[in-house]
Amino acid sequence: MVCKTFKQKQKMRAACRAAATVLDRLCRIVGPGITTLDIDQEGKRLMDEFGVKSACHGYRAGSRTFPAYTCLSVNDEVVHGIGTKKCVLKEGDIISVDVCVVLDGHVGDNCRTVPVGSVAPDISRLLKVTEESMHRGIAQAVHGNRVGDVSNAVQRCVEGAGFAVITNFVGHGVGKSLHEEPQIPNYGKAGSGPVLKRGLTVAIEPMVNMRNKDISMASDGWTALTVDGMPSAHFEHTVMVDKDRPEILTVPEGQEMA
Ligand code: MF3
Ligand code: CO
Repeated sequence: MVCKTFKQKQKMRAACRAAATVLDRLCRIVGPGITTLDIDQEGKRLMDEFGVKSACHGYRAGSRTFPAYTCLSVNDEVVHGIGTKKCVLKEGDIISVDVCVVLDGHVGDNCRTVPVGSVAPDISRLLKVTEESMHRGIAQAVHGNRVGDVSNAVQRCVEGAGFAVITNFVGHGVGKSLHEEPQIPNYGKAGSGPVLKRGLTVAIEPMVNMRNKDISMASDGWTALTVDGMPSAHFEHTVMVDKDRPEILTVPEGQEMA
């Protein structure tokens, strides 16, 4: 969505702030012994408390609707994992917590991958590089640049560190609906693709594997898995394109920059 009015911008800011606050709270409860169902249920509770709805609950892809309130993907689960009481987190795991909410007809979408206790150094590097690649991409989201500038910045950061960018899933425009034009791949040529305009709101979300970018689908029809069984990381912010620098919208309540 291209926000043309101050009112639209304020609605996107509010939806994104709520999405970020829920995400931040959920990341704080991650630890050994908690189940992914516990985290999802806390997500639902927080959304009720903040007066927002999950944008993924009931989301339809083909004939299947997404059954949970958040996407929780552990270790070799890449994206769209479903919380379950069978999945008990343990020291050394990583979990991607992906939260998208609707407030007043506007959607905010964000994700972070966090360690459970302390994790192996190569996994910790995977998280750092994935987050860094997201910020490199975000820095390109300025008026007049092209989608390919964002994509290429992400790809160079990831591949420069020796990791593999996932190509099966991409970032996206986000606004009145969760997935809008344009698609924002995490790979591509600088200077290619649609031009970014001031006021456009997009979700920039690199998904990164250790070595092999390929994924397969679990039998639940939602969860994407790495084919090599190695862990995968995912970071995402919703940002608004602006003239000189992009505005990151998914900032938790109380953590706004001065
Ligand atoms: N942040 C995720 C995405 O953009 C949210 C997916 S919702 C789901 O793909 F229902 F598709 F899982
Ligand atoms: Co998204």
